[in-house]
Amino acid sequence: MQSESDIEICTRLEDASGAFYGAVIPPLYGNSLFVFPTVEEYIQARKEEHRHYVYWRGTNPTVEIAERKLAALERGESCKLFASGMAALTAALLGSLRAGDHVVCICHVYEETKKLLHYLNKFGISYTMTSSVSLPDIEAAARPETKLVLLESPTSFTFRLVDLEGVVRLAKDRGFKTIIDNTWATPLYQKPLPAGIDLAVHSVSKYLGGHSDLVGGAVIGSSRELESLFYQEYLLLGAALAPYEAGQLLKGLRTLPLRMEAHRRNALEVAEFLERHPAVARVNHPGLPSHPDYKLALKQMSGTTGLFSFELNEASFETVARVINRLQRFQIGVSWGSFESLVLSPNEGTNEEQLLSEGISPGLIRLSIGLEDTEALIRDLDQALSGA
Ligand SMILES: Cc1ncc(COP(=O)(O)O)c(C=O)c1O
Repeated sequence: MQSESDIEICTRLEDASGAFYGAVIPPLYGNSLFVFPTVEEYIQARKEEHRHYVYWRGTNPTVEIAERKLAALERGESCKLFASGMAALTAALLGSLRAGDHVVCICHVYEETKKLLHYLNKFGISYTMTSSVSLPDIEAAARPETKLVLLESPTSFTFRLVDLEGVVRLAKDRGFKTIIDNTWATPLYQKPLPAGIDLAVHSVSKYLGGHSDLVGGAVIGSSRELESLFYQEYLLLGAALAPYEAGQLLKGLRTLPLRMEAHRRNALEVAEFLERHPAVARVNHPGLPSHPDYKLALKQMSGTTGLFSFELNEASFETVARVINRLQRFQIGVSWGSFESLVLSPNEGTNEEQLLSEGISPGLIRLSIGLEDTEALIRDLDQALSGA
């Protein structure tokens, strides 16, 4: 049988068996618990709680529909949805590590990911950030006690790519587990699990939800891994996604392929404009032929998305702030991946030395390109850059 395409997975109706009376979208099951006709059935359900509806901290029919959809999109066997991307990452790390273990983490990951690894020091888990995205530098960061390689590709702010095939080879060779934060590419444009990565983690607060009305996270991988995660980190840490948020996520997923195509096209147009602008030193967008990982992007991703950065010739906080403050069609705010265009810089005026030491230009500005009229966004960027 031919497997379902991504578009079919996103748009399929959920009521195949008629259990929802033909409702075109699944109902929100807002009940916190389920009741049982007999003690025996209750005991059986508790024994296999990952397969039965018992209590919303573990399983919920609405959440489960979203989990199945995400697992299918990522080509994984199983998925659990969490209350945030950070909760998902925390569970994936705690489920993979114990005291004494060491993590190799790719440089320029999401800032909170780095802070989480630092926090885990207090439980006897250590980590090393790689000095670049290259395979030799990843290998050089490993120690005899390394258990896990934690990836984000593309990386945050700098948008460099990690060679996933190379990391999988290295990990199999050395017995490391691999986890990737696949939020940027979405499962539509990058499928790390068939490439051999063990777990994919997402913040569904970004493109997967897509409407800035939801915070959630996902861990996707093999049934065996996810079953163990369910009974330990999921049930015990208790950061389950609520059914209302799962409903919002399902709504977002229906239009994911359409939205991603628009984000891809719009962002590429804006990036090409910025690359030609005299005030811009460099554009960090893996869909541009000038990007150092352009060929790798073509090989391991089937598309690019709306989040990228550019660097000003004049790399000072004052100029960065002037450009951002002049923008009228880009809102200043955290997060990304929704219909509205956003702008941010990691330069906060007091951390320029720190940024330079991490290989990040103090003139870097990050854009999340939304679904607006691209011409208007480009005109806005032009006036902000020219006037500043
Ligand atoms: C790449 C990446 N991963 C994970 C997260 C964390 O997700 P959440 O905010 O849903 O906890 C973010 C949030 O901005 C992110 O940018």
